[in-house]
Amino acid sequence: MKTAHRLSLIPPYLFAEIDKKKQAAMARGVDIVNLGIGDPDLPTPKILVEALQKAVEDPDTHNYPPYEGTADFRKAVSVYYQDRFGVDVDPATEVIGLIGSKEGIAHIALAFVDPGDVVLLTNPGYPVYNTAAIMAGGTPYHVPIHAETGYFPDFSAIPSDVARKAKMFYINYPNNPTSAVVTKDQLKEAVAFAKEYDILLCHDLAYSEVCYDGYRSISILEIEGAKDVAIEFNSLSKTFNMTGWRIGMAVGAKEAIAGLGAIKTNVDSGVFKAIQKAAIFGLLHPDRQKMIDENNAIFQARRDKVVAGLKHLGWNIEAPKASFYLWLPVPKGYTSAQFAGIMLDECGIVVSPGTGYGEYGEGYFRMTLTAPDERFDVALQRMADKGIRY
Ligand SMILES: Cc1ncc(COP(=O)(O)O)c(C=O)c1O
Repeated sequence: MKTAHRLSLIPPYLFAEIDKKKQAAMARGVDIVNLGIGDPDLPTPKILVEALQKAVEDPDTHNYPPYEGTADFRKAVSVYYQDRFGVDVDPATEVIGLIGSKEGIAHIALAFVDPGDVVLLTNPGYPVYNTAAIMAGGTPYHVPIHAETGYFPDFSAIPSDVARKAKMFYINYPNNPTSAVVTKDQLKEAVAFAKEYDILLCHDLAYSEVCYDGYRSISILEIEGAKDVAIEFNSLSKTFNMTGWRIGMAVGAKEAIAGLGAIKTNVDSGVFKAIQKAAIFGLLHPDRQKMIDENNAIFQARRDKVVAGLKHLGWNIEAPKASFYLWLPVPKGYTSAQFAGIMLDECGIVVSPGTGYGEYGEGYFRMTLTAPDERFDVALQRMADKGIRY
C-alpha cells in the first residue's frame, strides 16, 4: 500500500520517538524518571470531575454536540476572556470549541493555506505548527528564536518576499519549549507585522494560566486591532490538568473562526457535551483563579527546587515565569541528541533534545516539571552520582 507523498514529508513525531526509547529502557528494567512530556501529573480538580459525573447522567449530553461548541460553552469562553484578559469576543462568531487546542492548531492551516503558500513558525517550537503547514500543502518557513532576543522573532530579519508569500504565522507565548514570555509591546510588533503582510497571526496560548511569581500571560486580543488579523488557541488542558479530556477553544477574527469551523464541520463532530459542561463549570467558577493558583504553587515550588538543584550541578539558569519547562543548555562537547541519550542511558532520565523542536533547538534540552516532587530528587541525585554537570 502506498501512502501519500505528504506523509513522507512529516518528520517522526518527537514524543513518539522518545516514548519508543523509554519503553525499551523500561523493558530492560530501568526505573525511568520521565521529564520528557509536558503532561501534568496532578489530577483534574475534584469539583470538575464531579461536574462531569453529573453531566454524564443527563441524557441531553448523549447525542451529537454542535460542531462549533455548545452556545453555553462559547458564552463561558467569552465571559472568561472578558474576566481574565479584559477582551470582548462575540460567542456567536468569534469563539469556537476545539478537541484540545492541538486539533485547532492543526486544522486552521487547512482553511488558510494553499499549496505553495508559506507558513511562518518559530523555531524551536511546538512541532505541530510545522506538520500542520506540511499537511496543508504549504511550505513552512522557520523563523529562528534565540536566547539573546528573549526567544522572540526578529521580524525585520524575515525576507520580505517570504513574508509576502506567507498566509499564517504561528507564535506561542508562554513558549514551549523555551518557557519565554512576552510583553505587550512585543505582541504589538507581531500584530503590526501580520497587518503589513496580510498574514493570519495564530497565537498559541495553551499555557495561558501556568504562570509563576505573579506573572500574567497576555492574550493577543489585548492588542488593539488584533482581532482583524489574529486567532488565539487556548485550552483547558494545562489550566485545569485536563490534558486527557480534550477540550480547548479558539477566539479571534471572525473569518478565521469561520474558516476553521468549515474544516471542522467536515472532519469531527465536536466535544462530548458532558465535557463541555464540566469545562463551563471550571471557566465560570468563582474560585477559578484559586484553583489555578493552588496548582501553580505546586509547580512553582517544584521549579524552585529543580532550578536550585541544577545550579548545584553548574547550570546557572533563571527560573522561568511560566509553563512547565526548563530549557537548558547541554554541556560542552555534546549535541542535544547525544546528551538526551546520555541522560537516558546513564541516569534513566527522559528529557527532550532541543532539536526535537527544530534545528535552532540544537545545544539545548528541555526538562518538564510535570513529575511528582520526589522524582526530581531522584533525577538530581542520579545526575550528581554520574557526574553530569554543565
Ligand atoms: C505549545 C502547545 N500548544 C498546544 C498544545 C496542545 O494542547 P491541547 O491540545 O491539550 O490543548 C501543547 C501541548 O503540549 C503545547 O505545548
